[in-house]
Amino acid sequence: MSEQPRDESSHDETHRRTIPVRRAVCPGSFDPVTNGHLDIIGRAANLYDELVVAVFVNRSKSGLFTVDERIAMLEEVTADLPNVRVDSFRGLTVDYCKAHDIHVIIKGLRAVSDFDYELQMAQMNRGLAGVDTLFMPTNPEYSFLASSLVKDIAGWGGDVSNLVPQTVLKRLIERTRGS
Ligand code: PNS
Repeated sequence: MSEQPRDESSHDETHRRTIPVRRAVCPGSFDPVTNGHLDIIGRAANLYDELVVAVFVNRSKSGLFTVDERIAMLEEVTADLPNVRVDSFRGLTVDYCKAHDIHVIIKGLRAVSDFDYELQMAQMNRGLAGVDTLFMPTNPEYSFLASSLVKDIAGWGGDVSNLVPQTVLKRLIERTRGS
């Protein structure tokens, strides 16, 4: 009995329909995005089908850059990552996850000092909505890096050119030069 050739195209179609899209969110203030964030975003994008980088709109803190500016910078620096989308949200991260069918939150850990707070949030988010958090150790090259330090250094005229992408550096200089 001869074997029927497999219909690879219809097999692929079925396969594609039955496997759910693996989607994760990388939430943060991103005021502004740094090379440390970008390292985590790039590595997380390799692990998931879709990665949403979501800028949290903080009611009580205005920040150096507006949410639209932060989004624009994130879009520029992730333009080469086709499965990364940038969005913003106001409210709980878990509510954003529920609304967008996301089951995983990605967080970068720079040092042990990050761990206590991040663990608390991860456990709270799991308890609130069953959303898990995946911790990624940052590249040691960026373990000291924080947006707040970058803003402070840039504000005093210090060199942050190796800490942020070029487009962010340009905007930082423009923004802090006047202050
Ligand atoms: O870049 P940041 O400022 O460290 O990001 C913190 C952020 C935005 C991820 C965190 O504050 C957050 O998730 N805020 C959304 C509000 C929320 O879900 N709060 C409850 C956390 S258990």
